[in-house]
Amino acid sequence: MFKYLKKIRHSLVSKIIDHPHLMGKEKCSPQFDIEQYEKLGRLSEAINRMGEKIKEKQSELNKQRDEYQSLFELVPCIITVQDKNYKLIWYNQEFSEKFNPAPDDHCYHAYKGRTEKCTICPVEKTFEDGKPHSSEESGVNKDGTPTHWIVRTSPIKNAKGEILAAMEMNVDITHRKLLENELEKSEEKYHAIFNNIPNPVFVLEMDSLEILDCNDSINAVYGYTKDEIIKKSFLMLFKDEEKGQYASMIRTTPFIDRVKHVTKLGRTLFVNIRVSPSEYPGQKVLLVTTSDITQQHETEQQLIQASKMATLGEMATGVAHELNQPLTVIKTASGFFMKKINKKEKIKDDILFTMASEIDSHVDRAAKIIDHMRQFARKSDMSLKKVQVNDTLEKTLDILGQQLKMREIKVAWDLEQDLPKIMADPGRLEQVFINLILNARDAINEKWQAQGQEKGQEKGAKRIMLRTRSDGKMITITISDTGKGIPRDHLEKIFEPFYTTKKVGHGTGLGLSISYGIIQDCQGSILAVPNEDNGASFIITFPILDES
Ligand SMILES: Nc1ncnc2c1ncn2[C@@H]1O[C@H](COP(=O)(O)OP(=O)(O)O)[C@@H](O)[C@H]1O
Ligand SMILES: [Mg+2]
Repeated sequence: MFKYLKKIRHSLVSKIIDHPHLMGKEKCSPQFDIEQYEKLGRLSEAINRMGEKIKEKQSELNKQRDEYQSLFELVPCIITVQDKNYKLIWYNQEFSEKFNPAPDDHCYHAYKGRTEKCTICPVEKTFEDGKPHSSEESGVNKDGTPTHWIVRTSPIKNAKGEILAAMEMNVDITHRKLLENELEKSEEKYHAIFNNIPNPVFVLEMDSLEILDCNDSINAVYGYTKDEIIKKSFLMLFKDEEKGQYASMIRTTPFIDRVKHVTKLGRTLFVNIRVSPSEYPGQKVLLVTTSDITQQHETEQQLIQASKMATLGEMATGVAHELNQPLTVIKTASGFFMKKINKKEKIKDDILFTMASEIDSHVDRAAKIIDHMRQFARKSDMSLKKVQVNDTLEKTLDILGQQLKMREIKVAWDLEQDLPKIMADPGRLEQVFINLILNARDAINEKWQAQGQEKGQEKGAKRIMLRTRSDGKMITITISDTGKGIPRDHLEKIFEPFYTTKKVGHGTGLGLSISYGIIQDCQGSILAVPNEDNGASFIITFPILDES
């Protein structure tokens, strides 16, 4: 019997050591032997160890809880935990400082002062599907300033997976929002300016010249809509035969003058083009503006033509004299022939031949003058060619020489041999020289008339000097006279349109202003200076053509 009890005790103590949680659940006897003491000693040790372990775990848990708590409080964003009815169960310091919530406050009330939930609510969605959601919200801070947040929500679930609450995290994006608004406004402003510039503006891809963007003014000028022109090449606006020439020029030249463009309906426009390299989001572009100068161009052409006609009128008497000379020769020859025939006299062969060839050459000369006049009067658009200025000067004097001779004005030539060529419109250049020589003629006449008619004294002073020089880069043409001269304060004024000192019916005041324009179109310049004969000198320069 005793043996049986001992066995039970032994197994009980072993059970307590191995399974201390069973203590108190089974009955045990207070009688122990030595072996039982030992066992009880080991039991208490085990219990102590267990207590230590529990304490360690507890303090670790407390530490972790404190860490999470301070993390939760110190994150630089707003965190709230809400129940199904949007009641605030928990929130961090940032939230309470910003919104000062009442006890048992609701999210919508604390944030926005609303009495019911917002129409779109990410917390609601999270409760519905158990997933995280986000949205952008706006409200008013405690101090009344408007504020914007990005809101993110996520569910808090229990062990069974049921949603107990939703955590909402808000990041303040007020500053970013403000910048966004400002950017939007400045973009709107830029667009309004871009579209309201009265001149067409194009944004071109630098290599392909593809039109990336353009403003609304292109429609009024070219007749194309934006859709019709965007993604096409800018060269579509040029004449077919000129596309190649301008393709490289657009990439290298900041200003291109008087270019022909074609509208959607095929009308030709004259435009000035300005090009400036620029940056467009992520790529290098050309910013191109065009200005329609068609009307200005047409008016200029009409003026040039009108001035030409006036010059022709001025030259008429001179030309009549010029033509008179061959006519006189022919008249003399025909008179001689008739006299001989009437007298029934034979004309010697060599005399007949000489007279016939005289008639022939004078008819040629008359034809040449008429042809020259006709060419001069012809209306033509400017076209630049290689020009030898010495030749043009000589050709000009062909039609003016006779009338200068009649007025006893001498022409002194001083031309540089092998003068380099320039790029110019030869017809227009001749128009310039005619204007200048006729002005010199008039200035000499006026001085002559003012000084009275003491011919002998004046003769030597009636002179026009034509001089050409080159310095390797430029050529210089100087046309000087011994006329009345130009007062110093008028040296620039004389190039203004309609400036004339001549009597009504004698001057138009257009000669010099048109000459100025023509010379500029050929990249040259002109200026007037007094000379040592008290007359005027006109100095014209042109860049030498680079034949290479
Ligand atoms: N060689 C010159 N000597 C003196 N005055 C000149 C000379 N060339 C031009 N001028 C002055 O410049 C003015 C303008 O010349 P221009 O434009 O050719 O018009 P227009 O000859 O019809 O008067 C002339 O009226 C004259 O006063
Ligand atoms: Mg004149």
